[in-house]
Amino acid sequence: MVVDRVRWAVVATGNISTSFTRDLKLLADDAVVTAVSSRSQQNADRFAAEFGIEHSYDDYRRLIESGTVDVIYIGTPHPQHYAVARAALQAGIAVLCEKPVTLTAKQAQDLIAVAAEHNTLFAEAMWMRTNPVIQAMFAELHNGVIGEPQQVVADFAFHKPSLPARLLDPALGGGSLMDGGIYPMTFAYMALGRPAEIKAVGSLNDDGVDLNVAMAWRYDSGPVAAITCGLRSQNPWTASVSGPEGSLQLPHRFHHPEYYVRSTASGAERIDVPTHGLGYHYEAAAVMQALRDGLVEVPSLPHAATVGILELLDETRRQIGVRYPGDDDDLSG
Ligand SMILES: NC(=O)c1ccc[n+]([C@@H]2O[C@H](COP(=O)([O-])OP(=O)(O)OC[C@H]3O[C@@H](n4cnc5c(N)ncnc54)[C@H](OP(=O)(O)O)[C@@H]3O)[C@@H](O)[C@H]2O)c1
Repeated sequence: MVVDRVRWAVVATGNISTSFTRDLKLLADDAVVTAVSSRSQQNADRFAAEFGIEHSYDDYRRLIESGTVDVIYIGTPHPQHYAVARAALQAGIAVLCEKPVTLTAKQAQDLIAVAAEHNTLFAEAMWMRTNPVIQAMFAELHNGVIGEPQQVVADFAFHKPSLPARLLDPALGGGSLMDGGIYPMTFAYMALGRPAEIKAVGSLNDDGVDLNVAMAWRYDSGPVAAITCGLRSQNPWTASVSGPEGSLQLPHRFHHPEYYVRSTASGAERIDVPTHGLGYHYEAAAVMQALRDGLVEVPSLPHAATVGILELLDETRRQIGVRYPGDDDDLSG
């Protein structure tokens, strides 16, 4: 059982590992980063020096064997998540792994089974679920402020003159769907649950990487969701859920907002909810609370949703023809 400061380790030294580690500093009374691993000792040492981390390794397996950590955060590209998470869980070390945790639902189910077998916590770093604004907005939704939700419209498309190479590389799980689309899918899933039917269309480049995707979800009780993602346009990047009494809207960069807007018959109101840092410490705090409570699942980062979304990603990729090396056997449908 974790009684003192939780000892974190970070696997990989890229963009998101840097942001996450920076935010962990906000929990300094509660958390300490004791180890980092990289594919190169030089990068591990540089990262360790930047953040004052005691141990640095050139291989995640050495980090796992070191016995210096309680929980490992995985910030590698998606295809590398599975092996690192599996090795950590088998060693009885808790795991918080970046989204999507794996390339397929089958792999995620396997990790959840390994976690259960070793009585070890496993969670997907779907940070939007632990954002205080989003939690407040969904609390209002579930209290019925707009009535029974009927429609979701959510979008995660952006364009940069030069995209990180990983996003356009099929070997690294490239494409808009796995990187960005998972957020509006999560929003719709949080608002409406698992759909009865999904339809998707997508435009792929010559390497088979999806650049533009549109999805339509239908629910047996009547609601629908319209979801888009892409790497070629500057979209509003917003999300909304609407019902007979009004709507709740999240603004630009809806996955880490500072406020939401409630529109009802009495008018539109902006609701600000205090947040601080980049927003990654909320998921870290949720993991640490679950560890202290002796849980193997973080209540706000449920396993069922991780698998449910990956099943929808499997099916969407099947419909639009996105394949990653080695995943054919795992794709459902
Ligand atoms: N939650 C969020 O807000 C958020 C934002 C961005 C990305 N993400 C997720 O985080 C993951 C990483 O994204 P990122 O933007 O941080 O990527 P990135 O900047 O390219 O960093 C990934 C790091 O993974 C390590 N790595 C291990 N195997 C690799 C390989 N075969 N090729 C390349 N790098 C490899 C590298 O670190 P070493 O050189 O130290 O080994 C690399 O720096 C993705 O799964 C992505 O979906 C989440």
